[in-house]
Amino acid sequence: MTAPAIAARDTAPAPDPVLPRMLTGDRPTGPLHLGHLFGTLQNRVRLQDMGVELFVIDADYQVLTDRDVADQLPAHMDGLIADYLAAGIDPDSATIFAHSAVPALNQLLLPFLSLVSVPELNRNPTVKDEIAHSRQSAVSGLMLTYPVHQAADILFCKANLVPVGQDQLPHLEIARLIARRFNERFGQPVFPVPDALLSAAPLLLGTDGTKMSKSRGNTIPLSATADETARLIRGAKTDSERDISYDPERRPAVSSLVLLAALCLGRDPREVAADIGDGGAAALKTVVTTAVNDLLAPIRARRAEYARDLGYVRQVLRDGNERANQIAAATLAEVQGVMGMRY
Ligand code: TRP
Repeated sequence: MTAPAIAARDTAPAPDPVLPRMLTGDRPTGPLHLGHLFGTLQNRVRLQDMGVELFVIDADYQVLTDRDVADQLPAHMDGLIADYLAAGIDPDSATIFAHSAVPALNQLLLPFLSLVSVPELNRNPTVKDEIAHSRQSAVSGLMLTYPVHQAADILFCKANLVPVGQDQLPHLEIARLIARRFNERFGQPVFPVPDALLSAAPLLLGTDGTKMSKSRGNTIPLSATADETARLIRGAKTDSERDISYDPERRPAVSSLVLLAALCLGRDPREVAADIGDGGAAALKTVVTTAVNDLLAPIRARRAEYARDLGYVRQVLRDGNERANQIAAATLAEVQGVMGMRY
């Protein structure tokens, strides 16, 4: 797609025509864990190192979709950024920023809301599921509309690639719809239609054998110590069969531990299981603990350094916020321009 001729000051820096611009995000609700490392962080770093321009949004407003108050935001933000940096996200090439620090991004929500219908919002399966599990007695307007806000997260910087898990696909569909409808309604190709990059996220379960989730307290945080990790794995659910095998259908808890070791070691889970053989759950847990701690040791060492230098961590966020603000202001000016709001 060729860029329309618009005065330079009104045009967001165009994404590289060859390399995609990628945007991903997290809600600052707690420390990142092994599920994040294998599901998304490693992927972000790999693409960044291939030269893809990376934007990472810490979606603080989005925390309020299913609860009344977002707790300990400053501490969660420090922790998230330390996790990113320790995992290898490079703040010299990536832009790390917070929702709340970029007013022009948030303002895009208004024109975008005009482009979707209430039935379309009501149909979103991920939102329906979140409503079912919400801590609130009534559904807030934010819960229903946050996928539109998320479209602003993606489109403000004209990202064309969004690495997501399966659950985020309905949101990406809304972002694509909004990009297309905006361009059609106002007759200018302002927004690229972003593509999902579906991560082949391995299905890692939590230590209790159910879905891994911060709110269930069944994760292994990247920031945990080696001893805490050993304790968490010692307490992990297994089964009573002595012979260790990789059979996710029949033995989900044991297989998830085998998979975790295999991911850490870069090996095939079946081979890892065969090596443990009839060593039973105790041998399995020893293998998993060593594999996790060895893999995380360098990440944890770097993370500890960042945790000691929060001045630096916060500067990374301020720099990212500033860059995101410049881009958002240019995009908003362009949007208002095509909407006839130039006075
Ligand atoms: N909804 C995402 C999650 O819960 C977080 C997020 C916010 C996001 N804005 C985004 C993801 C934009 C991708 C693109 O994990």
